[in-house]
Amino acid sequence: MLISADSSTRLIGRTAELAVLNGAVERLRGGTGTVVWVEGEPGIGKSAVVAAAAQIGREWGCQASVGVADQLAHPPLLGVFLDCLEIGRRSADPRRARIAAFLSDRRATLDLADATRTAAAVEMVVALVDELCAAGPTMLVVDDVQWADDASLDVCRRLVPVAAHLPLLLVMSYRPGAHGSTVRRLRDVTRRRDVVRVPLGPLPPDAVRDLLAALVGVPPGDGLVTLASQAVGNPLFLQELVGALVREDLLDISTRAEVRESRTGVVPRSLAAALDDRLSFVPAGTIELMRASALLGGEFAVTELAALLGRTAIDLCADLHEAVTAGILVEAGPRMRFRHPLLRQALLDGMPAALRAALHLDVARALEAARVEPQRVAQHLLTSGVVGDRWARQWLADVAPVLAAWAPHLAAELLRREVDHDPGDEHERSGLTMNLARVLLATGDHEEAAKRVRQALGAIVDPGDRGHLHWILARALFSGGHNDAAVANLHRALRADDLPDPWRARLLASLAMFQRAGVGDLTAADATARGALRTAAVAGDAFATAYALTGLWAGHSVRRQHRLALKSVEQAIETLGTGVDHVDLMAFVLHGRIFSLQNLSRWTDAEAALRDARDVLRAANRIDDTTSGVTAAVLLFWLGRWDDALAELNAVAQSTSSATYRGLREGGPGWLRHGVAALIAGHRGERGRAAAHLRAGFDRPLVTVADRENIDFLLVARSVAAEQDGNLRAALDHLNDLLERRPGEMTLTHQWLPRFVRLALAADDRSAAEAGVRACLTEAAAEQVPARATAAADRCRGLYHADAAAIRSAVAHYRASGVPVELAGTLEDLAVVLAERDDSAPARAALDEAIDLYDGFGAAWDVRRAEARLRSRGIRRGVRGSRAKRAGHGWDALTPTERKVATLVAAGRSTPEIAQSLFLTRRTAQTHISRILAKLDLRSRVEIAGVVLRQAPGGVLDS
Ligand SMILES: Nc1ncnc2c1ncn2[C@@H]1O[C@H](COP(=O)(O)OP(=O)(O)OP(=O)(O)O)[C@@H](O)[C@H]1O
Ligand SMILES: [Mg+2]
Repeated sequence: MLISADSSTRLIGRTAELAVLNGAVERLRGGTGTVVWVEGEPGIGKSAVVAAAAQIGREWGCQASVGVADQLAHPPLLGVFLDCLEIGRRSADPRRARIAAFLSDRRATLDLADATRTAAAVEMVVALVDELCAAGPTMLVVDDVQWADDASLDVCRRLVPVAAHLPLLLVMSYRPGAHGSTVRRLRDVTRRRDVVRVPLGPLPPDAVRDLLAALVGVPPGDGLVTLASQAVGNPLFLQELVGALVREDLLDISTRAEVRESRTGVVPRSLAAALDDRLSFVPAGTIELMRASALLGGEFAVTELAALLGRTAIDLCADLHEAVTAGILVEAGPRMRFRHPLLRQALLDGMPAALRAALHLDVARALEAARVEPQRVAQHLLTSGVVGDRWARQWLADVAPVLAAWAPHLAAELLRREVDHDPGDEHERSGLTMNLARVLLATGDHEEAAKRVRQALGAIVDPGDRGHLHWILARALFSGGHNDAAVANLHRALRADDLPDPWRARLLASLAMFQRAGVGDLTAADATARGALRTAAVAGDAFATAYALTGLWAGHSVRRQHRLALKSVEQAIETLGTGVDHVDLMAFVLHGRIFSLQNLSRWTDAEAALRDARDVLRAANRIDDTTSGVTAAVLLFWLGRWDDALAELNAVAQSTSSATYRGLREGGPGWLRHGVAALIAGHRGERGRAAAHLRAGFDRPLVTVADRENIDFLLVARSVAAEQDGNLRAALDHLNDLLERRPGEMTLTHQWLPRFVRLALAADDRSAAEAGVRACLTEAAAEQVPARATAAADRCRGLYHADAAAIRSAVAHYRASGVPVELAGTLEDLAVVLAERDDSAPARAALDEAIDLYDGFGAAWDVRRAEARLRSRGIRRGVRGSRAKRAGHGWDALTPTERKVATLVAAGRSTPEIAQSLFLTRRTAQTHISRILAKLDLRSRVEIAGVVLRQAPGGVLDS
C-alpha cells in the first residue's frame, strides 16, 4: 500500500510551481530559453519538482537531460554534466567521446602547469550545449547544484546569460546552506531579472491531507493529521512518518486512516528515527550490500559495486531488487541511485569509522581496476584517510600529472599527506615532493611550493632530481614576486658540476627570462640565453632550445631589433614542431610572433599569425586561451576594429581561468585587458566605463619589469581622462611614466609619443615637447628597418616644427601598411599644421578623412577634439565629412564582423563553427551574437536569419 516515492509520484500541492515550469517549456518550444532556479530545504520536493519539469519537457518533444550532483569534498570535474549529457569515452556521439577522451587524457603536461585545461573542458561542454540547442529545443536539469564541482558551476554560470538567446531551458535546484564562493557567484548571477525563481515552501494543510491520503490510500483521520503536523509540510518527512507507521502496524485503516491511540508513544518522532526504521526493514545481507553501495557515492554503476565486492552482477541481483522494493535505491538510467541522500548518510553512519576508511581504500583500488577517472579514485583515497599505503603511493606517483591538471587541490591534499606522513626512501620522497611542488604552482600556492622544494633539496642528492627541483623553485619564487631570490637560486643551482645538461639548459633559459623580466638586465639575459642555447643543443632538448630562443626574442624586441626578434620566435616555433607537448610555451611564442610582426608594420601578416596561433591552440583544445584574447584585442585596437576588440576582451573577462604562461608575464594580460578597454571607452567618450576599467586595472601592485610593460594602455587611458577633464598638465604628467623607460622594458613608447608632443605643445611646454621628439627619434634610430617608430618620429617632428612634409611621410607609411588608428591621428595633425599655414583646402581634406576614420571606430571623442582643434584654426569639415553618424540600432548599426556573424547564423552555423571560420574564440563569437540580438532587438537566432534574409535575399548561403 505504501507508494514508492519515485519521480512518477503525482506531485501534490505544487500546481503554481508546475505552471511556471510549463510556461518555460512552452517558451522553449517557441525557440526562447529560460533559466529556472528552484530553491528549498532538504526533502521539500526540489528533486521531485525538477524531475516533473523534465517530464513535461519530454512530453512536449524537447530533449531533456538530468544531472544530479553528489555531496563530496572534491566532486569530480564536470561530474554533473558528464552525467547529464551522457558524456563518456564510449559515447556513440563523437563530440561527447572527444570531451571524455580529453578529460581522461593521461599525458603529462606538467612542465608548465596548465590550469587552462579545465577552462577548455568547460568550454567544450558549453559548446556542446550550444550545438544541442542548434539541433533543437534543449532542456538541462541540474539537481542539487550546490554540490556541483567548480567547473560545472562555471558551465552553469556561463549558460545563464545566454539561455535567453538559445532554445535552452536550464533548470537548477538548490538547497541553501554554507557553500563555497563559486556557488555564491552562481547564485549572484541568477539574481538577474530574467531568471525565474521558484521557491518551494512547506505544503499547505490541504496538500498535506492529500499527500497523506495518497500515501495510505484513504483520507487521514484527525489524529494522523495532528501527528503529521510534526512534518511541517515537508513531503519527505511525511513519507517517512507514514512509512514507519505502516510497517509497525500503527495505523488503523478503514474509511479513514487513523493512528492507533494506545500506541502513539512509540511513533517515531524524528526523521532520523524514521530513516533507521526504513533500513531495519530490509534483510541484513541487503543492508551490507547497501553500505558498500553507499561508499561508492550517491549514484553508482552495478559493475563498480560488483568490482568492489569481487562478485558478479548477477550475484547482486536479488539484493538490489530488495533495495529497490524497500525504496532505498532507484534506477537512474544505467546506474542506481539512493532515493535520498539522507538514506545513504544513515547507512554510512551505521559503519565504524575504521572500517569505513579501510573500505574506501578498497573502493579506490576497485575503481582504478575498472579504469574510471583518476579523480574518483583520488576522492576515495582522500576519504579513506589512509596514508603510506604502497599501492596508493605508486598510483599517486603515476597519475599526479593528470590529477594536477584536472583536480589540483585534491592532488595537493593527497600529496601533502603522503609527504608529511613518512619520508620513505629518498627517491620516493623526492618524487612525491616534486609532484607536490608542481601541483602547488598550479594552485597558486607559491610560498608553500618554495618551502617544500627547499626542504627536499636538503635531502636529495640525485643531480637530475635536484635540477628539476631548482627549476620548480625558481618558478615558484618568480611567480611569488621574489625575482631576486629566483635569480640567486638559479645561479647557485648552476654551480653544481654534476647538473645534467638538459636541466642546465632549462635553468639557464629561465635565468635569462628572469634576468630581463625581473630587473631588466638585458646584457646578462642575452649572454645567459646564448649559453642556454648551446647547452640545449648539446643535450638535444627542444623545450630548452625554444625557451632560450624566446629569451633572445625578448632581448631583440627591447632593442627594437624586430627582424632578429622575428627570426628567433620563428626558430622557436620550428623547434617545438607541431606536437602539443609544450603547448604553453608554444602559445607564448606564437604571441611573440604577432607582437614582432606588428612592430614591423606587417599588419596583414600579424592577422594571419593570430589565425595560426588560434589553429594551434584549437588543436590543443586551448582555443579560449586568455592570452590569445588579449593579444587579439591589442591587434584589433590598432586595426581600428574596436567593437571586435571589445568582444574579445569581453570573452576574456568571462573566462574561468586567468592562466597565462606562468613565470613570464603573470598578470600582464590583466593590465592589458583593462587598459585596452579603458582606452577605447575614453576615445568613444564613454567616461564612466573608462573610469571603471581604470580603477580595476590599477588595482594591483606592479613588481617586475614584465608587469610595467603591460600598463601603457592604462597610463594613456588615464591621460585621456585628464584631457577630457580639461587638465592638460595632468594629461601630460600621466604620460611621463611612459617616457621614463627602465632598462630592459619592452614598452613601445613611440605609439604614444605623438600624443605626448601634442599635449606638451597645447600646454605650451616646448621643452617637454622636445623631450618627446627626442625619445621618439631614439626609438626610430634603433629600428632595423624604418617602420612604426620611424613613422611616429616623423609625426612628432612634424608637429614640433609645424613641418607638413614630415607628417605627410608618416601618413604615407600608415596608409601603406594599413593601420587606420595611427593614420587617423596623423591626418588630424596634418590638418592642423596645414591650417596654421592657411592651406585650408588640403587641411579640410585631411580633416574629413580623419573624421571618416574616427567615425568608423566609433571614436566620438576624437571627432569632437579634431573638430575643435581645427575650428579654432578656422577650418570646418567639408560637406562630405558631415555625413550622418553610424546608427546605434538596426542592421546599419552592425559592424562588419557582426554582419558576417549574422550571415553565418542565418546559414544555420553553430557558434563553434562560426568561431572557427572567423578565427574567433567561441566566447567572442557568442558575444557578437548577443550584440547582434541587442542591436536588432531580437530574441533568437531564427529571428536573426529573418533579418538577414530581408537584407540580402538569396545571398545567405553563398557567403
Ligand atoms: N509535492 C509532492 N507531492 C508528493 N510527493 C512529493 C512532493 N514533493 C516531494 N515529494 C516526495 O518527497 C520526497 C522528498 O522530495 P525530494 O527528494 O524531491 O526533496 P528535495 O527537496 O530534493 O530534497 P534534498 O534537498 O534532500 O535533495 C521524494 O520522495 C518526493 O517524491
Ligand atoms: Mg533533491
